[in-house]
Amino acid sequence: MPLARAYSVALIGVTGHVVEVEADIANGLVGMILVGLPDTALREARDRIRAAIANSGEEWPQRKITVGLSPASLPKRGSWFDLAIAIGVLAAAGKVPSAAAAGVMFFGELGLDGRLRPVRGVLPAVAAALDKGFGTVMVAEQNAAEAILVPGVRVIAARSLKSAADWLRGLPGPDGSPAAVEFTGGQELPDAAELPGVSRRPGLGSAMTPDLAEMLGQSMARRAAEVCAAGGHHLSLLGPPGAGKTMLAERIPTILPRLDSEAALEVTSIHSVAGTLPPRVPLLTNPPFLAPHHTATKAAIVGGGSGFIRPGSASLAHRGVLFLDEAPEFDRDVLDALRQPLESGEVVIARSGVTTRFPARFTLVLAANPCPCARVAGPAEGCSCSPSARRRYLGRLSGPLLDRVDVKIELEPVSRKELLSDKDFAESSQTVALRVIQARERAARRLRDTPWRLNGEVPGSELRRTWPPAPGSLAVLERSLERGLVTARGVVKVVRVAWTIADLAGRPRPTRDDCDAALGLWLGVRR
Ligand SMILES: Nc1ncnc2c1ncn2[C@@H]1O[C@H](COP(=O)(O)OP(=O)(O)OP(=O)(O)O)[C@@H](O)[C@H]1O
Ligand SMILES: [Mg+2]
Repeated sequence: MPLARAYSVALIGVTGHVVEVEADIANGLVGMILVGLPDTALREARDRIRAAIANSGEEWPQRKITVGLSPASLPKRGSWFDLAIAIGVLAAAGKVPSAAAAGVMFFGELGLDGRLRPVRGVLPAVAAALDKGFGTVMVAEQNAAEAILVPGVRVIAARSLKSAADWLRGLPGPDGSPAAVEFTGGQELPDAAELPGVSRRPGLGSAMTPDLAEMLGQSMARRAAEVCAAGGHHLSLLGPPGAGKTMLAERIPTILPRLDSEAALEVTSIHSVAGTLPPRVPLLTNPPFLAPHHTATKAAIVGGGSGFIRPGSASLAHRGVLFLDEAPEFDRDVLDALRQPLESGEVVIARSGVTTRFPARFTLVLAANPCPCARVAGPAEGCSCSPSARRRYLGRLSGPLLDRVDVKIELEPVSRKELLSDKDFAESSQTVALRVIQARERAARRLRDTPWRLNGEVPGSELRRTWPPAPGSLAVLERSLERGLVTARGVVKVVRVAWTIADLAGRPRPTRDDCDAALGLWLGVRR
């Protein structure tokens, strides 16, 4: 059989596309050529695959081998086509039955010694394979736990090219056991599965999880965090050093509900492509919390990179929290690049004819000191910055960015009295999380026949048409709009937050008080 086919998946963002690998063996100059828009890593595959085949005890065909990857227009990056190419070559040489390889999707990198290595992006690739009608996928053993997250797929976990080829030939492994282990997606790994990097043991989280109860005083800021968690609204925290901005932001994930199964797979897919999944428990069920450093580049925050486009923090924080601590210290470019995902819920990166999209629907939390010297204690005490220096500093957070922030809070340092007396009153994360869950359920019930789940996601036009607040309750908001205190975008945001406040209180629709409170949060309140 001089011509054979094997299949793999090319990922663009988190979307998988089927790639057909054709291997042709003909008379001519001995060697191997790769055609079909391969990148550098893929071109190196030639030497890797030859070594892997030879070191697996298989025979390398001493003829002219042409390997084509199609569709040619699709850019193919990285080393995850190695296995498909090697199987294609072996099938063309008649060493493995072509029919056995036909219905299988191959996904893995080969070592020079023929070992099958794990790759990134297995979860979205396997999901795409199943979607395109491939019921069986073959991956490296270390990727098996991730591959079986896709319900209904048959996963073949191979250790090496030899075990992959033996499995296709229907031969047992060296000790008589199956050449590769089979799993069914959507089921738990059986106990006997002692695969490297695979374990059902839950991750050893840190023993000390932060709790909202540790945050004393700051009742307004705590309440704002609750509103933002319940409705998926964006939050900015402004205040002097030590007021508890970082402390509060880090506790927001503790009041967010766990991800439902659909969201968990979506979030895990993004982290799979980025290579940031914990190897032991691949499914992410907690909302992610990303706190990139202020020296981070635009590519690190919104995604990018040369060659292989990686998701940035904004996408890794999808369905969770993106926390920009010391926000004015970030590059202006970086902050402004967030405006588009804040609006559309996705990052779009166009590069040499290919458009890559990553979901990025996160809750933004900004923290900032009111001035560059950061010595404000109480009312400007000890601070030597001029008013214009302060304005310039905060001005780095551009107007358009702040316009997208729904809730703006100014914190003051907690007094000694509060620190001593508030211990008994500070609510725990568990108590607040319960209210957040109930409010989210109320919103989800109202939005059940729509694509949205959270108040923060509902477009303004829909809000006006289908869910207007009680008549007359927008009087103050309308006056503020007339006086230019609120932008048109602000009006939509205020109404969304008003709905969340009503949901938290269990009211059927926002009252005048809810709308006024939401307006106060949008304009920025002192505690
Ligand atoms: N409201 C509070 N209740 C209890 N402890 C607090 C509170 N605010 C601050 N602290 C204590 O002060 C520490 C510093 O707070 P945090 O790091 O959140 O300040 P910050 O506002 O982020 O300051 P900076 O602007 O310097 O980053 C916390 O780790 C905590 O121990
Ligand atoms: Mg801080």
